[in-house]
Amino acid sequence: MRLAGLTALITGAGGGFGQAAARRFAAEGARLALSDIGPIDTEGLPEGTLTARLDVTDDAAWAAHMAEIARRFGRLDVAVNNAGIGGTMAPIQHTSPEDFDRIMAVNARGTFLGLRHQIPAMADRGGAIVNIASAAGLVGAGQLAAYAASKHAVIGLTKSAADETARKGIRVNALCPSFAATPLFDAMADAVAARHDTDRAAAYDRIAARIPMRRVAVPKDILEALLLLADPANSFMTGQALAVDGGLTAV
Ligand SMILES: NC(=O)c1ccc[n+]([C@@H]2O[C@H](COP(=O)([O-])OP(=O)(O)OC[C@H]3O[C@@H](n4cnc5c(N)ncnc54)[C@H](O)[C@@H]3O)[C@@H](O)[C@H]2O)c1
Repeated sequence: MRLAGLTALITGAGGGFGQAAARRFAAEGARLALSDIGPIDTEGLPEGTLTARLDVTDDAAWAAHMAEIARRFGRLDVAVNNAGIGGTMAPIQHTSPEDFDRIMAVNARGTFLGLRHQIPAMADRGGAIVNIASAAGLVGAGQLAAYAASKHAVIGLTKSAADETARKGIRVNALCPSFAATPLFDAMADAVAARHDTDRAAAYDRIAARIPMRRVAVPKDILEALLLLADPANSFMTGQALAVDGGLTAV
């Protein structure tokens, strides 16, 4: 088991990726500290799993969550900053300043606050931090500029944090999935469907046609790469943004 005896924190653990990651990490022997702003499905999770309501944009709530993790587990080895929101699909001139701020707050500030609290918690023994960015953190995304900006910010935070923590034995990397079937993506697919006067399934097909592998991912598709970035055996990799996107950003 690749995470045996390690304590792993995952934000946004009520959502598509977060739920899948929690179960995979548990199968690899990790003890879990899960959080979400909404409910978390705990079915099938090991006894002793910590679940908490946490809004990642709230610095004081982060402090309380980290104190609870220290009390319960006495250590933090892996952190996955996964909580995120998508954007309403619209060109920049039709994107409201409020929408821009909301997306930046959750995706960029939320990741910044996570790092701010996780780095000192790991400083004694090192660890691995994985920030869930996006293919839209590597290339632009028309109709999703605020989202793309927030995910570029996540990659900037990742590289900077990697520089600051390399000598503390902490590795910080970003994972960049493309389209994957989760509630977040379904909302986007519905917007595409509405624009083309069609349904969600047809929108999935339209989006899949842009991907060299010709399909939308499922959360399971990204778990191997997530595990690679979290695994202490992957000991010399830091500051990287790893695309898991069916080839989308390669061509
Ligand atoms: N699904 C995709 O196509 C896709 C592609 C690339 C990147 N991502 C990224 O993957 C991550 C997970 O997304 P997902 O697809 O599983 O979406 P999801 O909507 O299924 O899950 C996201 C979770 O984050 C939680 N959340 C939202 N705001 C929060 C806040 N302020 N504080 C704490 N939790 C909050 C939600 O309650 C939800 O449970 C996100 O960062 C997303 O941007 C998703």
